[in-house]
Amino acid sequence: MPAESSTPNASTASPGAASHAPVGIFDSGLGGLSVLRAVRAQSPDEALLYVADSLYAPYGERDDDFIADRTLTIGEWLVKQGAKALVVACNTATAQSIALVREKLPIPLVGVEPGVKPAALQSRTRVAGVLATQVTLRSARFQALLARYAADCRFICQPGHGLVQAVERCDVGSAELRALLASYLQPMLEAGADTLVLGCTHYPFLDAAIRDIVGDRMALVDTSVAIARQLERVLEQHGLRAAPQAAGAPRPRFYSTDDGTHLRQLVATLLDVDAHVERVLIPSRRTAALASQPV
Ligand code: DGL
Repeated sequence: MPAESSTPNASTASPGAASHAPVGIFDSGLGGLSVLRAVRAQSPDEALLYVADSLYAPYGERDDDFIADRTLTIGEWLVKQGAKALVVACNTATAQSIALVREKLPIPLVGVEPGVKPAALQSRTRVAGVLATQVTLRSARFQALLARYAADCRFICQPGHGLVQAVERCDVGSAELRALLASYLQPMLEAGADTLVLGCTHYPFLDAAIRDIVGDRMALVDTSVAIARQLERVLEQHGLRAAPQAAGAPRPRFYSTDDGTHLRQLVATLLDVDAHVERVLIPSRRTAALASQPV
């Protein structure tokens, strides 16, 4: 299942939630822009708030409590900004903390998970590769997903160490990055994999570099369009879809916990938007503890 969603407890539903309110989209960094792009294409009338927690990326190298702390705190921050729904556009945060966040936030949630199901449905060789963070791969959610679809399809799961860091630097094609990708993909090709699940929202930015390595021997599974459709369904179910506006589509608003230079750069390349990125401080229990550590 590429996207999953939850319904808030009716008794805690946000009283101020209205269809004209924005949708919050959050990722550990820049990866969720691949989801934001799909959401804009699917639901052009929605106002969007995007938060990149780039100061603390990659989450894939963090412990479980840190990821849950950041996901919940940023979700709460977006609720305070008036978000009517939240897309956790991060496989790692979804795998690790969606259950907790779902319990605590009073708005509908859409999470993401690696496209194991579509890969199992489309692989002809019955061998598929999965690239995702270590945290996603070892999570109980992912293991359960794999168990559901691995009966007649072999999945070769590879942690993508270093890939999120490359995208965060806006490196999507250096020689070092290509060598790293080749070291992950070559064993999959040798095992006969014909399908590759991009199990992290940062990885769609590497599609050209991946394509150069695998040619047409592998189909790439990116779930961003499925997530955008799921969000539309969830908004519809809750009566929260924005009506078309005479002034045209609202411009998304972008926030970053670092200086936002790379977010701005990727937004310009990907969305062709000269965006203003606002730097935000979103302190949480674990980052306060980091700040108080002696250097
Ligand atoms: N985009 C995040 C994901 O989908 C990256 C996680 C990380 O920061 O390591 O998992």
